[in-house]
Amino acid sequence: MSASNRSLAAIFSLVLLSCMQCHAQLSSTFYDNTCPNALSTIRTSIRQAVSRERRIAASLIRLHFHDCFVQGCDASILLNETSSIESEKTALPNLGSVRGYGVIDDAKAEVEKICPEVVSCADILAIAARDASAAVISHNLLLTRMKLGRRDSTSASKTVAETDLPNPFDSLDRLISGFANKGLNTRDMVALSGAHTIGQAQCFLFRDRIYGNGTDIDAGFASTRRRQCPQEGENGNLAPLDLVTPNQFDNNYFKNLIDRKGLLQSDQVLFNGGSTDSIVSEYSNSPRAFSSDFAAAMIKMGDISPLTGQNGIIRKVCGSVN
Ligand code: HEM
Ligand SMILES: *[C@@H]1O[C@H](CO)[C@@H](O)[C@H](O)[C@H]1NC(C)=O
Ligand SMILES: *[C@@H]1O[C@H](CO)[C@@H](O)[C@H](O)[C@H]1NC(C)=O
Repeated sequence: MSASNRSLAAIFSLVLLSCMQCHAQLSSTFYDNTCPNALSTIRTSIRQAVSRERRIAASLIRLHFHDCFVQGCDASILLNETSSIESEKTALPNLGSVRGYGVIDDAKAEVEKICPEVVSCADILAIAARDASAAVISHNLLLTRMKLGRRDSTSASKTVAETDLPNPFDSLDRLISGFANKGLNTRDMVALSGAHTIGQAQCFLFRDRIYGNGTDIDAGFASTRRRQCPQEGENGNLAPLDLVTPNQFDNNYFKNLIDRKGLLQSDQVLFNGGSTDSIVSEYSNSPRAFSSDFAAAMIKMGDISPLTGQNGIIRKVCGSVN
């Protein structure tokens, strides 16, 4: 091999290497050439869903979170039960609780009409979470462009959904370590919990807190919540996670925590004399700090172990493997 051929070969392998890396990374322009109208099509679909029912915005943000914490952001949560797949939909944190599957299926169907088998369900979930936030966010808060290029899994894990998703009775230490296991730090965890500025929770998930003898709850707030959540029965009765502006994405969630009016125990532990009190105070004082940290943490969460390049598939329908 001549010297110039050797250097050509070297340059060639460098290009190859860097291209392998470019496949491994998500990018906000991923569909610009392959499906330029993907994002606007999804946005239209999500906006329609949110105008039909405002709460669906909350449900879609949560759906993306519950996807990303189990095998990474690979749309594993959308797979239905089959003889070879134990659906995550039936896992304890999801069953009778996670909503919005139909909205994602509809958005996917619209995208398939214009670009068949190009846009992954995992990316649709991420874009839907972003568009849902945009639909309900306060005018002065920031939004980010999501990074794209995720592919879809061919498997799901009910077991991991039950071990790795946080639960509303977790201690602060457990919340911190659960998020750390996914590469998210304490600040990310507190910022992301701010998603509880919208949406609702079922009575049985906050009953212990409103009937307990703890001093970490405002007495008036507890008695108000008890009216719709008796000591027995009515398990599915809903209460807003943010009592002040339940349909608006803002920083009231953090102000509530300072007033000891967090609905879930896992909300109030973020401001209960522990290491995260200062972060809660900061976000309660600065909507800007909250929204820029929330946007950054959403990007980081969306980056959890994506399938890229030749890994995974592009599902034709989100509920099943092709
Ligand atoms: C910090 C640990 C977290 C715990 C323990 C937790 C737990 C819960 C629980 C128990 C509910 C109510 C479910 C029901 O009543 O059926 C809920 C709702 C919700 N969660 Fe979380 N969550 C956490 C973090 C997050 C994160 C990181 C996000 C998103 C970034 C998020 C977004 C939501 C939203 C938007 C709702 C309302 C959903 C709706 O109305 O359909 N949560 N969460
Ligand atoms: C609250 O206190 C009452 C009376 O002191 C007691 O009977 C009850 O078990 C306590 N509840 C909880 C959740 O600790
Ligand atoms: C998955 O199950 C849901 C609810 O049972 C159903 O509406 C949906 O059509 C199913 N999707 C597929 C691809 O089988």
